[in-house]
Amino acid sequence: MIKKLFGLFSSDLAIDLGTANTLVLVKGEGIVINEPSIVAVQYDHMGKERILAVGHEAKEMAGKTPAHIRSIRPMKDGVIADFHVTEMMIRYFIEKAHKRKRFFSPRVMICVPYGITQVERKAVKESALNAGARAVYLIEEPMAAAIGAGLAVKEPQGNLVVDIGGGTTEIGVTSMGGLVLCKSIRIAGDRLDQVIIDYIKKNYNLLIGERVAENLKIKIGTAVTLNEELSSTVYGRDQVEGNLISIEVTSEHIRMAISDTLREIAEALKSVLEEMPPELAGDIVENGVVLTGGGALIRGLDKYLSDIIKIPVYAAEEPLLCVTKGTGKAIEQLDILQHVAYED
Ligand SMILES: Nc1ncnc2c1ncn2[C@@H]1O[C@H](COP(=O)(O)OP(=O)(O)OP(=O)(O)O)[C@@H](O)[C@H]1O
Ligand SMILES: [Mg+2]
Repeated sequence: MIKKLFGLFSSDLAIDLGTANTLVLVKGEGIVINEPSIVAVQYDHMGKERILAVGHEAKEMAGKTPAHIRSIRPMKDGVIADFHVTEMMIRYFIEKAHKRKRFFSPRVMICVPYGITQVERKAVKESALNAGARAVYLIEEPMAAAIGAGLAVKEPQGNLVVDIGGGTTEIGVTSMGGLVLCKSIRIAGDRLDQVIIDYIKKNYNLLIGERVAENLKIKIGTAVTLNEELSSTVYGRDQVEGNLISIEVTSEHIRMAISDTLREIAEALKSVLEEMPPELAGDIVENGVVLTGGGALIRGLDKYLSDIIKIPVYAAEEPLLCVTKGTGKAIEQLDILQHVAYED
């Protein structure tokens, strides 16, 4: 009875702490927060910091702030670059989810990048405990992605998931509720934005910002030749004359800009396939490879990869939400997934 009452008042939370986006799912309610992992911090004359904005609002400010305001992405390249700001961000999001409903100290499952250090894990856990969590569990991203993509992770059967996020691409092979093999490389969405910036600079002498590059990637980026190429106008600063000018960029340009980076992702995937235990290799050939994370939305990436590895590749449904959904499912199944999600 007491247990039942407790269950009634305590909603579990699942948090996907991504380098690009943070999502929070409340059990029974679904995803209630989906915002960029960005914090705008203001410094007073004593150098003391204060949060000015978090999430969407902070992203709007990025690149447009005066000197005393800094727009920080506390998680970069799949690691926690700024502990203090990460903690403030976790607290902010938990409290925001909290306010929607009065929780009785929720249990919280947080998805963290594969391979973060023990110190980082501890920092993440403590921030959630400070924000009022009753218990905190961590789950590694490739496992959460596989669960969220609907793969049969508990079966004695190999499944391969490639999660291309902002900071890292994680390639994981699951079987019997665990990760059999995993490789994480710090090449993902952010790198694609950077190579687009470099390409435009080199070929047009034009300087563009990260957000402009990301928009180009999303609007016209493609891994393969399109029947009808797309184009978009961008504004930036001409490096030679210093004038503000605009140019027309096509999907072919973006494909050329990102091709080496996509190749590196394909090579990492190939190397995982080469290390695959032979017992599981057959399952992968049969089941194919599933793409999750924002990178799965790059036009034609499934075809591009499958042409290289000669195995079917599919993009998961709603790839940006897979990790969060998987983290949510994992907290519901804590009893059976004890060895997947552990409390350290
Ligand atoms: N339609 C799209 N086409 C290409 N890339 C996209 C698209 N939509 C989002 N992205 C990119 O996906 C990335 C964010 O994906 P996601 O939210 O999965 O990352 P994350 O979980 O925050 O990062 P990580 O898993 O590395 O910690 C960004 O680089 C973003 O630019
Ligand atoms: Mg992610």
